[in-house]
Amino acid sequence: MKTKKLYFGTNLKMYKTIRMTVDYLQQLEELTRDISRDEIELFVLPSYTSLESAVKSTDNHVVRLGAQNMNWEDEGQFTGDISPVMLKELNLDLVMIGHSERRHVFRETDTEENQKVKAALKHGFTALLCVGETAEDKAYGVSAEVLRTQLKIGFSGVEREKIPSLRVAYEPVWSIGVNGTPATADYAEKMHKEIKSVLAEIFGEDGRTIPVLYGGSVNPGNTCQLITRKYVDGLYVGRAAWEASAFDRLIRESMEAYKNQASK
Ligand code: PGA
Repeated sequence: MKTKKLYFGTNLKMYKTIRMTVDYLQQLEELTRDISRDEIELFVLPSYTSLESAVKSTDNHVVRLGAQNMNWEDEGQFTGDISPVMLKELNLDLVMIGHSERRHVFRETDTEENQKVKAALKHGFTALLCVGETAEDKAYGVSAEVLRTQLKIGFSGVEREKIPSLRVAYEPVWSIGVNGTPATADYAEKMHKEIKSVLAEIFGEDGRTIPVLYGGSVNPGNTCQLITRKYVDGLYVGRAAWEASAFDRLIRESMEAYKNQASK
């Protein structure tokens, strides 16, 4: 089996002060420096207020930094929001769009996520679009339909040439956070396969090269089962990654499991 690049990321959500973020990033950079970045991409999304200090104190080639959200307009009457231009000022080139908490707590719609994706690409960002069905969607048996809608609207109007600037995180809403139940590797694999086929429908066969990361209660007990699945290109980790040494361990264990199964 041909080996592929693996993707590991964490979203720090509304956790960690500026000092804590900088300490975390410095530790993570130190711990993971020896891992070839041809083999992995490692990214962290700190809070807005930590971004400037994070950029100054982190080697972006070792730990790629990004923002957790942004508005689609360059400027305007959007009190409390941050624009792509403001993020560019910090030299960032990665932004997450449509995290489940944005969709469900802040009621963002697929159309808004699409506006953000297009704005991100226009400004030269890599756009990480998060998709995932709720427990209710799953119970009705419409998970695949929901993912299809989120992807088709989210990437509507995006040109094929932008494929290298796209990432997808599959995070079933019911699996995220302290009350979440992680998806089984079988279930994640099934949904990742579905996502890849929708990406091929949107962008042509090359759409399948867009990395699809699994997220939602990733923990040391399930990383190896998830990362060894054919359609899982990476892991998007929350709580289990917020201590640098734990994240470093999780990355190394995943890489080892992936290499072991790839060599079989
Ligand atoms: P969790 O968060 O790993 O803590 O469930 C995942 C996420 O929200 O991306």
